[in-house]
Amino acid sequence: MERSAIVTGAAGAIGRATLQKLVASGFNILLVDRDEEALKEVVAATAKAAVHSFVADVTNPHEVKGAVDKALTCFGMVDTLINIAGGGGPKRTLGIEDIDLELWNHVIALNVTSTFLFSQAVAPGMRERGFGRIVNFSSILAFGEKGPPTTVPGRLAYATAKAALIGFTSQFAKDVGKDGITVNCIVPGLILGQPGTRVRGRFDALPDHEQARMLEGYPSGRAGTSDDVAAAVDFLVSEAAGYISGVALPVDGAYL
Ligand SMILES: NC(=O)c1ccc[n+]([C@@H]2O[C@H](COP(=O)([O-])OP(=O)(O)OC[C@H]3O[C@@H](n4cnc5c(N)ncnc54)[C@H](O)[C@@H]3O)[C@@H](O)[C@H]2O)c1
Repeated sequence: MERSAIVTGAAGAIGRATLQKLVASGFNILLVDRDEEALKEVVAATAKAAVHSFVADVTNPHEVKGAVDKALTCFGMVDTLINIAGGGGPKRTLGIEDIDLELWNHVIALNVTSTFLFSQAVAPGMRERGFGRIVNFSSILAFGEKGPPTTVPGRLAYATAKAALIGFTSQFAKDVGKDGITVNCIVPGLILGQPGTRVRGRFDALPDHEQARMLEGYPSGRAGTSDDVAAAVDFLVSEAAGYISGVALPVDGAYL
């Protein structure tokens, strides 16, 4: 079966690893990210005719529509949506007093509203064809984290948004189950991508004792890799995973 996917946040650490997996699985792919330079680099490194890109801010409904239209123009249909774009915003915050409304709204829009907008745009086509795969991105932060903020800037807003994505996934999976569409979310623990990627950079900048504290809860003693996450995504979007839906799947080496 011909498969076509939209991947948001595609120029980031997990997005790049996911792209490699999907290319190997034979997907047509539209990469979406707001970082034009990084997106160009990713496309150049992939050099596959079936990989296209679109620069968009996923919090902007017009740009989301533009991305979905582009995918439809390139592939004729979208049967897979992977909502990776997300994060804690640009400002490191310590407590609730540090979070202004602008930052709060931004973090909710970046993680939750973007997932809603893309899902709403692709669901009708998936329903029509009786097949779809949607994967969202939560975080172990949905369950809170003790101690001072580490790699996540707007932690309280981020935890709220990532918990909301578990609820969104549970409900939406039930809403579209009869249409052959599965909706799942990945719940990553600390994931360290290649050197130079965003979270890896923040982790590497922490003092040794902070790094050790972050890794304490991981029974294997290591953080996850982008490939660990991409493998889970690749499975959830496969045709074989059609009876797995509404799941919040930790990829955290038994941290939770
Ligand atoms: N890395 C981790 O430790 C970790 C842990 C738990 C959850 N997550 C989640 O996994 C996902 C990917 O994480 P990552 O480590 O690859 O992050 P990353 O920062 O490396 O990648 C995020 C990508 O999203 C893009 N992006 C940010 N805002 C955007 C916007 N408004 N419009 C379009 N694109 C935008 C960025 O340009 C970047 O390429 C995120 O949702 C993150 O919250 C990551």
